[in-house]
Amino acid sequence: MTRPRAKHSLIRTRHEVIEVDAGGGSPLGMPPSRFLRDYWQKRPLLIRGAFQDFTPPLSPDDLAGLACMDGALARIVRHDAKRNHWAVASGPFDDATFAKLPASHWTLLVQDVDKWDADTAALLDAFAFIPSWRIDDVMISYAADRGGVGAHVDQYDVFLLQGMGKRRWAIDAGSNPPTDPREDVELKLLKRFSPTHEWVLQPGDMLYLPPGVPHDGTAVGECMTFSIGMRAPAAGELLFDFAAHVAESLPEAQRFADPDLAPAASAGEIDAAALRRARRALGPVAATLDEDAFADWFGRFITRYRVAQPAAPRRRPIDRDALAGRLPRSRLERDPWSRFAWRRRGRDARLYVAGSVFDAPIAWARELASGARIFEGSRFAKLPGRAQGVGLLATLIDAGYVTLRRR
Ligand code: SIN
Ligand code: CO
Repeated sequence: MTRPRAKHSLIRTRHEVIEVDAGGGSPLGMPPSRFLRDYWQKRPLLIRGAFQDFTPPLSPDDLAGLACMDGALARIVRHDAKRNHWAVASGPFDDATFAKLPASHWTLLVQDVDKWDADTAALLDAFAFIPSWRIDDVMISYAADRGGVGAHVDQYDVFLLQGMGKRRWAIDAGSNPPTDPREDVELKLLKRFSPTHEWVLQPGDMLYLPPGVPHDGTAVGECMTFSIGMRAPAAGELLFDFAAHVAESLPEAQRFADPDLAPAASAGEIDAAALRRARRALGPVAATLDEDAFADWFGRFITRYRVAQPAAPRRRPIDRDALAGRLPRSRLERDPWSRFAWRRRGRDARLYVAGSVFDAPIAWARELASGARIFEGSRFAKLPGRAQGVGLLATLIDAGYVTLRRR
């Protein structure tokens, strides 16, 4: 998730020091407490001479060897600069892969190198001011001349330590930079990138980037870069795990309960009272969702809960134009395993089917979720919202939730 950006720090970014010379002192060029106060998760920092006389713990050949091993997380990114086309291949690789690579415009990236190589892991000693559980890994990249992975943003803090050769880094340290992605590449690259700063890093120089800062690193001649990356679980991931943890400790007997149930006005409807009961059963965890989001979650959950068999989708999609005409002479059969329920939302309905949700005209949702197994097609022909309803029916038929039969 993108880190919320503190407004005051962004406005000051262009005018503040974001470049220091460590000059053989600490790798941050300042005490860790000052770095954490002024830069960590706030603004980028280029540290010249962070690691004096830096000698890479691995050679390019060692890295290529690691990329050929089963279990190593390795990628090769190639850039066709003429067409601005990017290609990614995942490892493990073999000697033949490397033999075929061109002289320029490619890079090899290997993640988690610290787990394989103790000398690489020792680099992390310099980052002991950060809790170890916040540190993800040391990723090492080897790039041929002009190699790189393109302009992108990372969701995590990263220290980009230049290990061998030179790399030109361009970053956009402005406030709210555009981060919309290009849709034509499998890498998450930026559609637009307007750098505010550019530096060429030499061995031992290090660039710190907080999450969400667009950046682009290009090799100037062959080079190696060591990325010390952080990890920060997304709120959704935390909630998912936490909910599972809480769920394990709840007694089986604590359930959705409705001792106050009134006769159903429409068999398949999830009404406001039902949603209140679901919220009550969940306790405070439910407070994180607004009413519509909560209802959509509940509708999807309750229609896939304890369903033993998925519906079988149709081989060929049904002819949508012909469906309306065929309806009066047809019968519709609901897949017995697929549960339907609906909820009113404004003047329309949300129809929940086996864990999926669809927009629907109220009359169609009420009919389809009535609990019946067989429907006379002629009934649908008379319902309001016909164009949307027929489209919905076609989708349900294609998914196998409903089958169309001749009468
Ligand atoms: C690289 O080492 O080429 C890429 C590192 C990054 O941009 O995060
Ligand atoms: Co990056």
